[in-house]
Amino acid sequence: MNLNGKVALVTGSSKGLGKCIVEKLAANGAKVVINYNSNATNAERVVHDIKTNGGEAIMLQADITDEQEVEELIQNVEKEYGQAVDILVNNATGPQPEKSLEDVTWQDYLDQLHFSVKSPLILTKQVMNGMKENQWGRIINIGSEVVGLGNSHFSNYVTAKSSVIGMTRSWANELGEYGITVNAVHPGFTPVERHGNVTEESASGYINQVPLKRLGKPEDIAGMVNFLCSDDASFVTGQNMNVNGGNTFGS
Ligand SMILES: NC(=O)c1ccc[n+]([C@@H]2O[C@H](COP(=O)([O-])OP(=O)(O)OC[C@H]3O[C@@H](n4cnc5c(N)ncnc54)[C@H](OP(=O)(O)O)[C@@H]3O)[C@@H](O)[C@H]2O)c1
Repeated sequence: MNLNGKVALVTGSSKGLGKCIVEKLAANGAKVVINYNSNATNAERVVHDIKTNGGEAIMLQADITDEQEVEELIQNVEKEYGQAVDILVNNATGPQPEKSLEDVTWQDYLDQLHFSVKSPLILTKQVMNGMKENQWGRIINIGSEVVGLGNSHFSNYVTAKSSVIGMTRSWANELGEYGITVNAVHPGFTPVERHGNVTEESASGYINQVPLKRLGKPEDIAGMVNFLCSDDASFVTGQNMNVNGGNTFGS
């Protein structure tokens, strides 16, 4: 799992799953970029922890749903590290309101599509030329198990995350000839800071339906992303990997 010399950008990596993913990639030798939107203190903490453990990390603020900011973000990565982005993990998310079909609006759908489709699209368009030149690249889109569950009162989020499946397959077809793999990782319920105090007891209804009888841990998701970035996964593209203890068996 040696990522020495590779530059990895993980969007929304100041906390939650993104933080764990970026720490894992850094631990395996990647020069990482911690992207965040509003909370610089969190990002500083991640950079500090990675550097303390001997890794290489920088932090860059950017709203990854904004084309101008994304263009500047990629320019800044190249300026700071002196090389193109090799690994892009499209992970950032905004608020995810649960709404019934009666209450949900088209704008609610668009809000989710901005994170799950627009952002990965504008980022990929910015980094793919560098990857093509290097004949090597890894693009990983973070989806969700909800695409297999079809949760009610959550169609805005489920619809946007469902788009990740087809988008990943099309991009894999288009970029494969350049040595660029594109895969999606679909986490199950994996409590992070925003979920507050989740216990096995409070989540027992969910856990009971999971074949492996536990909640996800951020390390589960980071491990899969790390594998997909590695040379061990060089013949894997266009795939949708469910990391959810078997809660869904396919998408
Ligand atoms: N955790 C789960 O149970 C779970 C399950 C299935 C799928 N997922 C997916 O996994 C991914 C990570 O989820 P999470 O639970 O780890 O989220 P999270 O803890 O809420 O973290 C969100 C991250 O995104 C950043 N962010 C928010 N808006 C941004 C913007 N406009 N531009 C750039 N960065 C922005 C935040 O930075 P600031 O704080 O600075 O704004 C933060 O670093 C998401 O795609 C989510 O849908 C999560």
